[in-house]
Amino acid sequence: MPACNRPTSPSEFMPDDFFRRYSNEEIFGNDHPLEIDMGCGDGSFLLDMAEHYPERNFLGVERLLGRIRGVCKGIQERGLTNVKVLRLESQYTLEYLLQPSSVSRLHLLCPDPWPKARHHKNRLVQQEFLQILQQSLTPDGEFLFKTDHPGYFEWVCEEMELYAKFNQLPWPAAAEEGGFYYPKTDFQRHWEKQGKEIFQLRYGQ
Ligand SMILES: C[S@@+](CC[C@H](N)C(=O)[O-])C[C@H]1O[C@@H](n2cnc3c(N)ncnc32)[C@H](O)[C@@H]1O
Repeated sequence: MPACNRPTSPSEFMPDDFFRRYSNEEIFGNDHPLEIDMGCGDGSFLLDMAEHYPERNFLGVERLLGRIRGVCKGIQERGLTNVKVLRLESQYTLEYLLQPSSVSRLHLLCPDPWPKARHHKNRLVQQEFLQILQQSLTPDGEFLFKTDHPGYFEWVCEEMELYAKFNQLPWPAAAEEGGFYYPKTDFQRHWEKQGKEIFQLRYGQ
Protein backbone atom coordinates (compact mmCIF):
# COMPACT_ATOMS: atom_id res chain seq x y z
CA MET A 1 0.00 0.00 0.00
CA PRO A 2 1.47 3.44 -0.84
CA ALA A 3 2.44 5.55 2.20
CA CYS A 4 0.46 8.44 0.75
CA ASN A 5 -1.94 8.75 -2.16
CA ARG A 6 -2.07 12.52 -2.42
CA PRO A 7 0.22 14.39 -4.85
CA THR A 8 3.37 15.57 -3.10
CA SER A 9 5.95 18.19 -3.92
CA PRO A 10 9.66 17.31 -4.39
CA SER A 11 10.20 19.59 -1.37
CA GLU A 12 8.16 17.34 0.87
CA PHE A 13 9.91 14.45 2.57
CA MET A 14 7.43 11.60 2.24
CA PRO A 15 8.74 8.45 3.94
CA ASP A 16 7.82 5.25 2.12
CA ASP A 17 7.78 3.49 5.46
CA PHE A 18 6.81 5.25 8.71
CA PHE A 19 8.23 2.37 10.78
CA ARG A 20 11.90 2.76 9.99
CA ARG A 21 14.54 5.41 10.54
CA TYR A 22 15.95 7.63 7.78
CA SER A 23 19.44 9.06 7.63
CA ASN A 24 20.24 12.63 6.71
CA GLU A 25 21.84 11.23 3.50
CA GLU A 26 18.65 9.47 2.51
CA ILE A 27 16.57 12.60 3.01
CA PHE A 28 18.94 15.16 1.49
CA GLY A 29 21.51 13.16 -0.48
CA ASN A 30 24.38 14.50 1.63
CA ASP A 31 25.59 14.45 5.24
CA HIS A 32 25.59 18.19 5.96
CA PRO A 33 24.52 19.09 9.52
CA LEU A 34 20.82 18.56 10.04
CA GLU A 35 18.58 21.13 11.77
CA ILE A 36 14.95 20.48 12.66
CA ASP A 37 12.22 23.11 13.00
CA MET A 38 9.43 21.47 15.01
CA GLY A 39 6.00 22.84 14.22
CA CYS A 40 7.40 25.02 11.44
CA GLY A 41 4.07 26.77 10.75
CA ASP A 42 4.27 29.01 7.68
CA GLY A 43 7.95 28.05 7.22
CA SER A 44 9.27 31.62 7.07
CA PHE A 45 11.98 30.92 9.68
CA LEU A 46 12.82 27.57 8.07
CA LEU A 47 13.25 29.04 4.58
CA ASP A 48 15.22 32.06 5.75
CA MET A 49 17.56 29.75 7.65
CA ALA A 50 17.98 27.42 4.67
CA GLU A 51 18.78 30.35 2.41
CA HIS A 52 21.27 31.77 4.90
CA TYR A 53 23.02 28.46 5.63
CA PRO A 54 23.27 26.59 2.29
CA GLU A 55 25.83 24.22 3.82
CA ARG A 56 23.28 22.88 6.33
CA ASN A 57 20.15 20.77 5.85
CA PHE A 58 16.80 21.87 7.30
CA LEU A 59 13.77 19.71 7.95
CA GLY A 60 10.51 21.36 8.98
CA VAL A 61 8.01 19.16 10.82
CA GLU A 62 4.39 20.22 10.72
CA ARG A 63 1.09 18.42 11.10
CA LEU A 64 -1.21 20.72 9.11
CA LEU A 65 -1.50 19.95 5.41
CA GLY A 66 -2.32 23.54 4.38
CA ARG A 67 0.88 24.75 6.01
CA ILE A 68 2.89 21.91 4.42
CA ARG A 69 1.63 22.98 1.00
CA GLY A 70 2.50 26.62 1.68
CA VAL A 71 6.02 25.72 2.81
CA CYS A 72 6.57 23.53 -0.28
CA LYS A 73 5.45 26.39 -2.51
CA GLY A 74 7.91 28.74 -0.78
CA ILE A 75 10.78 26.25 -1.15
CA GLN A 76 10.09 25.88 -4.86
CA GLU A 77 9.75 29.63 -5.43
CA ARG A 78 13.05 30.30 -3.67
CA GLY A 79 14.80 27.38 -5.43
CA LEU A 80 16.12 25.93 -2.16
CA THR A 81 17.58 22.42 -2.25
CA ASN A 82 18.71 22.09 1.39
CA VAL A 83 15.27 22.19 2.99
CA LYS A 84 12.34 19.79 3.12
CA VAL A 85 9.15 19.57 5.09
CA LEU A 86 7.57 16.53 6.69
CA ARG A 87 3.93 16.16 7.60
CA LEU A 88 4.12 14.25 10.87
CA GLU A 89 3.81 14.56 14.62
CA SER A 90 6.93 16.17 16.11
CA GLN A 91 7.81 13.73 18.87
CA TYR A 92 7.12 10.69 16.69
CA THR A 93 9.53 12.08 14.09
CA LEU A 94 12.35 12.34 16.59
CA GLU A 95 11.59 9.11 18.36
CA TYR A 96 11.01 6.80 15.41
CA LEU A 97 11.90 8.38 12.06
CA LEU A 98 15.27 10.02 12.49
CA GLN A 99 18.50 8.37 13.52
CA PRO A 100 19.99 8.77 16.99
CA SER A 101 22.77 11.40 17.24
CA SER A 102 21.78 12.93 13.91
CA VAL A 103 20.35 16.37 14.73
CA SER A 104 22.77 19.26 15.12
CA ARG A 105 20.17 21.84 16.21
CA LEU A 106 16.54 21.43 17.12
CA HIS A 107 14.39 24.57 17.05
CA LEU A 108 11.10 24.67 18.95
CA LEU A 109 9.77 28.15 18.34
CA CYS A 110 6.57 29.60 19.76
CA PRO A 111 4.92 26.18 20.21
CA ASP A 112 1.36 25.94 21.46
CA PRO A 113 1.68 26.85 25.18
CA TRP A 114 -1.39 24.91 26.34
CA PRO A 115 -2.09 27.57 29.00
CA LYS A 116 -4.81 25.78 30.98
CA ALA A 117 -3.53 23.62 33.85
CA ARG A 118 -5.54 20.61 32.71
CA HIS A 119 -3.83 20.85 29.29
CA HIS A 120 -0.25 21.12 30.57
CA LYS A 121 0.15 17.40 29.88
CA ASN A 122 0.01 18.29 26.15
CA ARG A 123 3.08 20.51 26.29
CA LEU A 124 5.81 19.02 24.14
CA VAL A 125 8.65 19.68 26.57
CA GLN A 126 8.35 16.96 29.22
CA GLN A 127 10.86 14.47 30.68
CA GLU A 128 10.09 11.85 28.02
CA PHE A 129 10.60 14.36 25.20
CA LEU A 130 13.90 15.51 26.72
CA GLN A 131 15.19 11.96 26.76
CA ILE A 132 14.24 11.52 23.09
CA LEU A 133 15.79 14.90 22.29
CA GLN A 134 19.05 13.97 23.99
CA GLN A 135 19.26 10.74 22.00
CA SER A 136 18.56 12.58 18.74
CA LEU A 137 21.11 15.37 19.12
CA THR A 138 24.71 15.02 17.98
CA PRO A 139 27.28 15.23 20.81
CA ASP A 140 27.63 18.99 20.21
CA GLY A 141 23.94 19.41 19.36
CA GLU A 142 21.73 22.23 20.60
CA PHE A 143 18.11 22.80 21.56
CA LEU A 144 16.71 26.30 20.96
CA PHE A 145 13.35 27.33 22.36
CA LYS A 146 11.28 30.51 22.21
CA THR A 147 7.91 31.38 23.64
CA ASP A 148 5.78 34.42 24.36
CA HIS A 149 4.17 32.57 27.27
CA PRO A 150 5.80 33.18 30.69
CA GLY A 151 4.20 30.03 32.13
CA TYR A 152 5.60 27.79 29.38
CA PHE A 153 8.99 29.49 29.72
CA GLU A 154 9.09 28.67 33.45
CA TRP A 155 7.84 25.16 32.71
CA VAL A 156 10.72 24.51 30.29
CA CYS A 157 13.28 25.92 32.76
CA GLU A 158 11.92 23.57 35.43
CA GLU A 159 11.77 20.53 33.14
CA MET A 160 15.35 21.19 32.04
CA GLU A 161 16.53 21.57 35.62
CA LEU A 162 14.83 18.32 36.57
CA TYR A 163 16.28 16.49 33.57
CA ALA A 164 19.70 17.93 34.43
CA LYS A 165 21.57 16.50 31.42
CA PHE A 166 21.66 19.64 29.28
CA ASN A 167 23.76 22.72 29.85
CA GLN A 168 22.22 26.11 29.41
CA LEU A 169 24.10 28.22 26.86
CA PRO A 170 24.06 31.97 26.37
CA TRP A 171 22.15 33.34 23.39
CA PRO A 172 24.28 36.33 22.45
CA ALA A 173 22.68 38.99 20.28
CA ALA A 174 25.80 40.76 19.05
CA ALA A 175 27.95 39.08 16.40
CA GLU A 176 31.14 40.06 18.24
CA GLU A 177 29.93 38.13 21.30
CA GLY A 178 29.23 35.00 19.23
CA GLY A 179 25.72 35.98 18.13
CA PHE A 180 24.39 34.09 15.13
CA TYR A 181 21.82 34.65 12.41
CA TYR A 182 18.40 33.72 13.78
CA PRO A 183 15.39 35.24 11.99
CA LYS A 184 12.09 35.81 13.76
CA THR A 185 9.27 33.36 13.14
CA ASP A 186 5.82 34.35 11.96
CA PHE A 187 4.44 33.90 15.48
CA GLN A 188 7.27 35.86 17.10
CA ARG A 189 6.56 38.80 14.79
CA HIS A 190 2.86 38.51 15.58
CA TRP A 191 3.37 38.48 19.38
CA GLU A 192 5.89 41.31 19.28
CA LYS A 193 3.43 43.45 17.31
CA GLN A 194 1.05 42.95 20.22
CA GLY A 195 3.73 44.19 22.60
CA LYS A 196 4.50 40.78 24.10
CA GLU A 197 7.93 39.81 25.38
CA ILE A 198 9.62 36.78 23.80
CA PHE A 199 11.54 34.46 26.14
CA GLN A 200 14.34 32.36 24.70
CA LEU A 201 16.45 29.45 25.90
CA ARG A 202 19.41 27.65 24.42
CA TYR A 203 20.87 24.37 25.67
CA GLY A 204 23.75 22.13 24.67
CA GLN A 205 24.51 18.53 25.52
C1 LIG B 1 1.91 28.25 17.39
S1 LIG B 1 2.39 27.65 15.85
C2 LIG B 1 4.07 28.23 15.68
C3 LIG B 1 4.58 28.12 14.28
C4 LIG B 1 6.01 28.59 14.07
N1 LIG B 1 6.96 27.81 14.83
C5 LIG B 1 6.14 30.05 14.38
O1 LIG B 1 6.74 30.37 15.42
O2 LIG B 1 5.64 30.85 13.59
C6 LIG B 1 2.62 25.94 16.22
C7 LIG B 1 2.73 25.08 14.97
O3 LIG B 1 3.06 23.75 15.37
C8 LIG B 1 2.22 22.83 14.72
N2 LIG B 1 2.10 21.70 15.64
C9 LIG B 1 1.53 21.70 16.85
N3 LIG B 1 1.66 20.52 17.45
C10 LIG B 1 2.35 19.73 16.58
C11 LIG B 1 2.80 18.38 16.62
N4 LIG B 1 2.58 17.63 17.70
N5 LIG B 1 3.46 17.89 15.57
C12 LIG B 1 3.69 18.67 14.47
N6 LIG B 1 3.29 19.96 14.37
C13 LIG B 1 2.64 20.48 15.42
C14 LIG B 1 0.93 23.57 14.49
O4 LIG B 1 0.18 23.03 13.43
C15 LIG B 1 1.44 24.98 14.19
O5 LIG B 1 1.71 25.17 12.82
